[in-house]
Amino acid sequence: MNGQEQVILSVQDVHKHFGGLKAVNGVSFQVQRGKITGLIGPNGAGKTTTFNIISGFYRPDAGQVLFNGARIDGLPPHRVFHHGLCRTFQISRELKLMTVMENLLLVPAGQKGENLFASWFLPGQVRAQERTLRAKALEILEFVGLAHLQNEYAAGLSGGQKRLLELARTMMADPQMVLLDEPGAGVNPTLMRRIAGYIRSLATDRGITVLLIEHDMDLVMNVCDWIVVMSSGQKLAEGTPDQVRQNPAVLEAYLGGQNR
Ligand SMILES: Nc1ncnc2c1ncn2[C@@H]1O[C@H](COP(=O)(O)OP(=O)(O)OP(=O)(O)O)[C@@H](O)[C@H]1O
Ligand SMILES: [Mg+2]
Repeated sequence: MNGQEQVILSVQDVHKHFGGLKAVNGVSFQVQRGKITGLIGPNGAGKTTTFNIISGFYRPDAGQVLFNGARIDGLPPHRVFHHGLCRTFQISRELKLMTVMENLLLVPAGQKGENLFASWFLPGQVRAQERTLRAKALEILEFVGLAHLQNEYAAGLSGGQKRLLELARTMMADPQMVLLDEPGAGVNPTLMRRIAGYIRSLATDRGITVLLIEHDMDLVMNVCDWIVVMSSGQKLAEGTPDQVRQNPAVLEAYLGGQNR
């Protein structure tokens, strides 16, 4: 592979403002295929807005986003999803009324989606397909340690278990790349270590590229191969975890952020 093929996502001089507020103000970075990249920065830095631009929820005011070399900026979320780029969502009110297994079975088919049209006319295939989907869902639930809860309602899960269910739903779509917005939010330290392990395994065992936003510095420093730091809508720094840890400007941005 040459250098260009190793880049799966390229964010190029992206801007997004809300009224007079420049939430994202000329941000550029690249994500390497198969790696775990962290997007960090103080509250209000523009991280989630950047995710919303990448995943198609916002159209940038200026700039480009390329996924596997193709422009995806301005595409609606479902089109971005079909390119193989998925983001996690909080389990909605509707999904909370369904079981853990149903939550997975309801994920739309991703890039490798089967031809449902043909199967409507071949009921035997529908049953076979449902069996395949259930087996896949169960394998994923086993991976994230939720298999024993497959028939429980999602509403009854703990905060940490809901994070795992969100991760599991993303995996159902067979993504090439996932965007995780604070996968460790509200999670206890034991579960945090497990989540860190799953994220590592997504990349190393399944070849899924990960871009994650996270405030927990232990998680970020332990799992990320590369870290991009944002502050006030701009990229402040990027580098390996060690380089970022030792960068005085990063510490200053965080301390400044706490005083706001
Ligand atoms: N839809 C919106 N309308 C108006 N302002 C917004 C909107 N979304 C975000 N903002 C503002 O843009 C700035 C960046 O917000 P963003 O959510 O991207 O930050 P963040 O880095 O994800 O922060 P946090 O770590 O707190 O989640 C903030 O000042 C925020 O208030
Ligand atoms: Mg955010």
